[in-house]
Amino acid sequence: MANIKTVGVVGAGLMGSGIAQVVAQAGYSVVVREVEQRFLDKGLKAVEGQLQRAVEKGRMTVEEKAKLLGRIRWTLNLEDLKGIDLIIEAIVEDLALKQELYRALDGLCPPATIFVSNTSSISIIAMASVTGRADRFAGLHFFNPVPVMKLVEVIRSIRTSEETYRTLFDFAKSLGKEPVTTKDNCGFIVNRLLLPYLLDAIRALEAGVGTVEDIDKAMTLGCNHPMGPFTLADFVGLDTTYFIANVMFEEYRELRYAPPPLLRKMVVAGYHGRKSGRGFYDYSGPTPTVTDLGL
Ligand SMILES: NC(=O)c1ccc[n+]([C@@H]2O[C@H](COP(=O)([O-])OP(=O)(O)OC[C@H]3O[C@@H](n4cnc5c(N)ncnc54)[C@H](O)[C@@H]3O)[C@@H](O)[C@H]2O)c1
Repeated sequence: MANIKTVGVVGAGLMGSGIAQVVAQAGYSVVVREVEQRFLDKGLKAVEGQLQRAVEKGRMTVEEKAKLLGRIRWTLNLEDLKGIDLIIEAIVEDLALKQELYRALDGLCPPATIFVSNTSSISIIAMASVTGRADRFAGLHFFNPVPVMKLVEVIRSIRTSEETYRTLFDFAKSLGKEPVTTKDNCGFIVNRLLLPYLLDAIRALEAGVGTVEDIDKAMTLGCNHPMGPFTLADFVGLDTTYFIANVMFEEYRELRYAPPPLLRKMVVAGYHGRKSGRGFYDYSGPTPTVTDLGL
């Protein structure tokens, strides 16, 4: 079985920064690559903020924080991913962009390097097929916020080798995560079930069934969910939710995956959820308030 010591993370957004943190926390050396300095700075700030909170809560010492940060190297240079054992891609949910990245990585990395995507919905084989290593290519789907959420979906494409799959399953466990195995079907397990629910909540809002607050409250108190669908969608990112819905609708042609017009309008308006300061809720004040969507 492949021995993983060094890990590359491509993309330092919501997911990439969290993945870099948990991988470094488990003792691996990490190289994080972004396309612009401001995104790299944002990722580093997110990790530092998380670790600082852990120090303040007494869950980590200042020395441990410094050691962990010392295991992560931040770069804009793709070449810095050259000699790495495992590369985890967490860039935007866009097949063409992901394929372009994988083509470049395939030319750069030695054959033994394993590639995985953190995609929420895109089929693994569609990315693996542009490389010469489809047997050493799979999905590792983490959940947001990565340092907190236990689940990792390990996705085997029809060409992922048994050895690659086992290496990744064990790697996920080494991070303290609980892996589940899923086939390379668009949306995998969680998003196949979650996306129609989130989109239905938006359709219910469009139909005037209830307000944002009441629908969230109903699902929290009525189903014992830790948060309602709008709070959750704001956490996931409305742009990401929209991208995933489009990918799944394209794949299955089923209306339950079709993005509702309100979601598209909000994404176009720049309301991308918590990360942009506004989605179904406005996060600029001390407590979130409902955004006026003119409904
Ligand atoms: N948001 C979630 O809850 C969630 C959960 C699981 C999986 N995912 C998946 O993880 C991936 C990333 O999602 P996110 O929410 O972190 O998005 P995000 O928008 O927060 O971050 C994406 C980052 O990728 C960077 N990027 C784009 N092209 C790049 C390249 N060629 N090289 C390096 N960096 C590049 C962007 O600059 C951006 O900072 C997507 O595939 C998404 O579907 C998201």
